[in-house]
Amino acid sequence: MSKSTKNEFVVVANRLPVDRVVDEDGEASWRRSPGGLVTAIVPVMQRRGGAWVGWVGAPDEDLEPFSAEGLDLVPIRLSAEEVERYYEGFSNATLWPLYHDVVATPVYKRTLWDAYVRVNRRFAEAAAEVAAEGAIVWVQDYQLQLVPKMLRELRPDLRIGFFLHIPFPPMELFVQLPWRKQILEGLLGADLVGFQTADAAANFSRLCRRLVGAKTHRNEIRVEDRVVRAEAFPISVDVKELIDLIGRPEVRQRAAEIREDLGNPGTILLGVDRLDYTKGIRQRLQAFSELFRDGRLKSGDAVFVQIATPSRERVEQYRLLRDDIELFVGRANGLYSELGAPVINYLHTSYTRDELAALFLAADVMVVTPLRDGMNLVAKEYIACRADLRGSLVLSEFAGAAEEMKRAFLVNPYDIDGMKQTLLDAMKASPAEQHRRMRALRKRVIEYDVDRWAHDFLVSLERPHASERPVEEV
Ligand code: ADP
Ligand code: G6P
Repeated sequence: MSKSTKNEFVVVANRLPVDRVVDEDGEASWRRSPGGLVTAIVPVMQRRGGAWVGWVGAPDEDLEPFSAEGLDLVPIRLSAEEVERYYEGFSNATLWPLYHDVVATPVYKRTLWDAYVRVNRRFAEAAAEVAAEGAIVWVQDYQLQLVPKMLRELRPDLRIGFFLHIPFPPMELFVQLPWRKQILEGLLGADLVGFQTADAAANFSRLCRRLVGAKTHRNEIRVEDRVVRAEAFPISVDVKELIDLIGRPEVRQRAAEIREDLGNPGTILLGVDRLDYTKGIRQRLQAFSELFRDGRLKSGDAVFVQIATPSRERVEQYRLLRDDIELFVGRANGLYSELGAPVINYLHTSYTRDELAALFLAADVMVVTPLRDGMNLVAKEYIACRADLRGSLVLSEFAGAAEEMKRAFLVNPYDIDGMKQTLLDAMKASPAEQHRRMRALRKRVIEYDVDRWAHDFLVSLERPHASERPVEEV
């Protein structure tokens, strides 16, 4: 694909699905990018086709459009300074903590905002260049909230959708942001703004009323002569891919090996996350290790496997988190393990999809305890992989996924005692109880998979705005 090729469908996301990694000998290769956005959008794009506009994950790379994983990719260049100010700075030190309940303190700096505006404009211009007349352009996530408005100004013929993968905060928090009005106006450049939950959509509508003076009626927001819709579309996983993976003999054999390698403990508990302070990794490991301290578990009863993908390693809060977790794991293993049998197996690395599927099959209890999460795909991946109706999911009330997954073992991750009890309950659940819960959870995940999510969003985006009727304030 060249830059002059025009596309009927364009996805615009901060990241491309592959990262350019250069090893010590200067050899460059491609690796799947981390995170839920990429996991969800890859299968959608593989099935629909179209162009994906995004950054390759390394600074100062000037690349022509190329293909990878069967996708047409349009790379955006970011300088080292832009990576620092737009990506590590405004996106991940300002917006990320603000949108996740300020679990870390957001940084508000004008230089970071200026870079955010500049880079958003670059993405808008690239999307405007590769989109055909009347095309659908689907902008993704918090890094690109100004793109819808900028793109509409450049190309009023386009149908523009926006989906926010992370939570949208309540008014009381959002109003801290010095550039709050510009962000709302940026999003209102879309025809449809999608959120993970109905609460997030309601937060957005309320803020548009208060800060932009918009009129709202149900899920419609009227700004001047345009109507924008705000709706919830809970994102999901590629169930077909996962079912295929767990059907492979080598994956099943690997699951058995993992159990063996861990010394055939009574229970295997598993956490799989990017190493992010929103994920509640410290809280879950603390609850688990206190069960040993209290004598409610002893070595051999249970092993915790925590896989932590390296993430945003140059952002200070992430460095501090890594030190904190690694100190904690060392201390807990020092206190409660026996020779050759650590109670916590901590792996700071990313895995292939096959290995992850094997881990899901090997795990008796999947532990997903974010302090706040837009959705959490790991929870849904575990459920999709348990066609045997075995295993238990411990899930934070503060993950978007909890709204659809009431039959999980729900926990408040701030309540360490509550979490200890729930971990034990999940470990002790009888096969009949595991079946009952798993059957209900699987029904929802299978019915509402990632194809259904993308379909519902895109159908809604293409639906003409009916609203010629007068819009009342609610
Ligand atoms: P987030 O988008 O915040 O990272 P999600 O749980 O929604 O959180 O999505 C994470 C995605 O990344 C999932 O598809 C999960 O399987 C994948 N993932 C997480 N940790 C790893 C890892 N160590 N190796 C490979 N993939 C991982
Ligand atoms: C979350 C965000 C994505 C982001 C991913 C990985 O899923 O919603 O937008 O791509 O985390 O984070 P990173 O900063 O490595 O892109």
